[in-house]
Amino acid sequence: MERRHFIKQSCTVCMGLMAGVSVVTLMDACATGKIVKSEAVNNQISVNVSEFKPEQSFVLVRASTLNFDILLHKDSDTSYTALLMQCTHYDNPVFANNKEIFCPSHGSKFDFSGKVLKEPATQNLKTYKTELNNSVITINIA
Ligand code: FES
Repeated sequence: MERRHFIKQSCTVCMGLMAGVSVVTLMDACATGKIVKSEAVNNQISVNVSEFKPEQSFVLVRASTLNFDILLHKDSDTSYTALLMQCTHYDNPVFANNKEIFCPSHGSKFDFSGKVLKEPATQNLKTYKTELNNSVITINIA
């Protein structure tokens, strides 16, 4: 094989691998949970556990009366955490991937309990109490 041809082929393979890694990384960073639309009744939002697919650790709950979605995280089969997706730094929306919750505005990061992992945000995300009864998770937004 000619040297020039070998270098050209090697570069093509490397570029392809780099592009593949970038796309995977980008897809991972942009992963979002399933959106579940549910309205608040008496300051409570209900979500059926069947909304969670076996491989999903969270869903996003959207109610017309809320300015931000609520991330409902499955901690275990009997425990769920509800977090308001509003950054505590400057109130911008936050997003989630499979590893963490992040704010693209200034780079704050939070875990799925709402705890700050990375500043500039210094306050944890707002959480709501949840209850599980007969396969229905109730989020108390009062
Ligand atoms: S608004 Fe989220 S980090 Fe600044």
